[in-house]
Amino acid sequence: MGAVGMGYSPLFETNKGRGRVIYRPFAISLFVAIFFIWVYRLTHIPSKVEDGNIWVWLGMFGAELWFGLYWLLTQALRWNLVFRHTFKDTLSQRYEDKLPGVDIYVCTADPEIEPAMMVINTVLSVMAYDYPTHKLSVYLSDDGASDITFYALLEASNFAKHWLPFCKKFNVEPRSPAAYFNNIFSMAHQNNQYDDHTHNIELAAIKKLYDEMEKRIEDSTKMGEVPKEARLKHKGFSQWDSYSSKRDHDTILQIILDKKDPNNSKDIDGIVLPTLVYLAREKRPQHSHNFKAGAMNSLLRVSSSISNGKIILNVDCDMYSNNSESVRDALCFFMDEEKGHEIAFVQFPQNFENVTKNDLYGSSLITISQVEFHGADGLGGPLYIGTGCFHRRDTLCGMKFNNGQNRINDWTKNENDQSLEENLEELEERSKVLASCTYEENTLWGKEMGLRYGCPVEDVITGLAIQSNGWKSVYYNPKRKAFLGVAPTTLHQTLVQHKRWSEGDFQILLSKYSPAWFAHGRISLGLQMGYSTYCLWASNSLATVYYSIIPSLCLLKGTSLFPKMSSPWFIPFAYVIIGETSYSLLEFLFSGGTIQGWWNDLRIWLYKRTSSYLFAFIDTILKLFGVSDSAFVITAKVAEEDVSKRYEKEIMEFGTSSPMFTILSTLALLNLFCFLGLLKDAMLREGSTLEAFEEMFLQTILCGFLVLINLPIYQGLFLRRDNGRLPSSLAIKSTALALSLIIFFRSLA
Ligand SMILES: *[C@@H]1O[C@H](CO)[C@@H](O)[C@H](O)[C@H]1NC(C)=O
Ligand SMILES: *[C@@H]1O[C@H](CO)[C@@H](O)[C@H](O)[C@H]1NC(C)=O
Repeated sequence: MGAVGMGYSPLFETNKGRGRVIYRPFAISLFVAIFFIWVYRLTHIPSKVEDGNIWVWLGMFGAELWFGLYWLLTQALRWNLVFRHTFKDTLSQRYEDKLPGVDIYVCTADPEIEPAMMVINTVLSVMAYDYPTHKLSVYLSDDGASDITFYALLEASNFAKHWLPFCKKFNVEPRSPAAYFNNIFSMAHQNNQYDDHTHNIELAAIKKLYDEMEKRIEDSTKMGEVPKEARLKHKGFSQWDSYSSKRDHDTILQIILDKKDPNNSKDIDGIVLPTLVYLAREKRPQHSHNFKAGAMNSLLRVSSSISNGKIILNVDCDMYSNNSESVRDALCFFMDEEKGHEIAFVQFPQNFENVTKNDLYGSSLITISQVEFHGADGLGGPLYIGTGCFHRRDTLCGMKFNNGQNRINDWTKNENDQSLEENLEELEERSKVLASCTYEENTLWGKEMGLRYGCPVEDVITGLAIQSNGWKSVYYNPKRKAFLGVAPTTLHQTLVQHKRWSEGDFQILLSKYSPAWFAHGRISLGLQMGYSTYCLWASNSLATVYYSIIPSLCLLKGTSLFPKMSSPWFIPFAYVIIGETSYSLLEFLFSGGTIQGWWNDLRIWLYKRTSSYLFAFIDTILKLFGVSDSAFVITAKVAEEDVSKRYEKEIMEFGTSSPMFTILSTLALLNLFCFLGLLKDAMLREGSTLEAFEEMFLQTILCGFLVLINLPIYQGLFLRRDNGRLPSSLAIKSTALALSLIIFFRSLA
């Protein structure tokens, strides 16, 4: 730490992970063992006499070859972990007067899934950043074009006049009002620490304001319309006069707070408020709107004409800021004199506030956020995941890296002087054009500028394109989490989310932005491998499904697929199983998880691979052959009251029938039946039980593991009575399927 060389003290430092001395030899030894497993498979192919078994055997080899190669890819993300640390004090000392403008984009798309209160809490949390307010601008992009969201934002702009001074005065954290009130009242309840008198009075006053605002917004949501007085009071609502539907309307743009507006730009202490802008870009049925990427690109252009901040933060509307200093953290990277000029974006992890202790659905993705992204950072930078990310405006707009010439000497310089001479209306009119449907025609937007189009996970390809332009990115994962979102609370939501992700990532691999060829030679080989681990999620499904069916069926039939315990070939299998299991457990515990959480994570790992990834894989292949949309209809989410009670108690929530659940229960029952069949055989057979067990040891372990990990499914099928259980029709269907599979397999050869 501290000064380096000639009085230069950096704004951030980078430390290498400490575990590498142990990890690297371990990984190499594990690879040797994997290699011996492959050798075993190839040298022990059953002779032709046993015929049908050849295919079973080759299938095992195929699966193990895949697992081994995939494991090799994931090593790239574990080889060279780095950890970042920032020096915000140095930043303030050196640059407090020269901080750049920061534009913050909050994106919302659907007023029903994303309630207005949630959206404005996110907006308020970022408006209240500890940052010079005249350099901060917040843009809400509303792809739902809902006048109720606009109304909520107007309400929020008034509440901000009290909220921001309150935050500053009492150093409030976190600065999302809902989260703050939630924390403080549950804390006060526990500790009875209610001593600061002024604080209490002002707290009560601000809570009252908040509650009143909440009531007005919720009432208008319930009514489905904005109250008449409010509508008359603000001219912005007239923009909905020409509105015909969510998919067919003009650009709606309203600068709600702006420094130029002398009446309405200051808080109750007379301090200027951040600029606040509402945008619903133009939509027409005949024009493709390119989803979130299209919204982001409109924001990029509109904000360039209004505030033109050099740094851009984008967050999803369900991710509030949990740390008011995050902007400063990010600037420590961009403004570092030595290394800042090569950094294009700073990605924060996606964290969640609603995760229970043992994280039943593996929502916190611990290994990704605590290990793999640190590994990607060591290879040139993490992926851009579409939220909680700070960008340089220039790079997001397509600027290529050019060593030395990208240094910014004056971060405060604003190229955008035109707006100074205009009044607000002129500025709004001029900016509206930038968000029109036709603006991008015959331009490079979506191709080389802004977020790239043509792929469902536009964020990832955009990040990849930026890195391929020569830039680096940084992963910053502070202990106190910077952004908190809402995690899925049912199994079905989790699986659907992962289907979408894995499908999108798989399509990247097959698209022109593939990390395999597009990025080849432009980013490091290790980072190419790192990207590929995510792009290949979906293709993991086949090997996993094979491994959860065939060994168990063979077990029942008495066909041995693994070496027996006394054979030397048993050793590599045992080493890989014990080594990988212990390593993954340790990795999980070191990343802050619990043992039960690890077991849950393992279960979700299996469920994702056998349902989400499988469907993603099949859908992608179908699309490749021109069979257009998914055959697997996604059922709507059910949100009942008892759902969240079960969530708190970590009881797995099924509650609906879905093709994904059919697969999961069929696999679970198949293994249960095979295991029970084995027990029956063992009891009936005399004498040779031990010998048979010795020969079938690994298969028995595998089948037993699959039965154990599926316990929640058996409970959901047969034992539970609450609404979250699996429907009984599904129990019948999957029992029939599992039994048919067993009978069919027995009848073979
Ligand atoms: C999420 O957590 C908040 C408090 O942190 C709680 O009020 C809310 O009910 C939770 N939501 C769900 C769906 O569990
Ligand atoms: C969010 O911020 C608060 C401080 O305001 C902190 O106590 C808490 O640990 C943070 N949450 C997480 C998940 O880091």
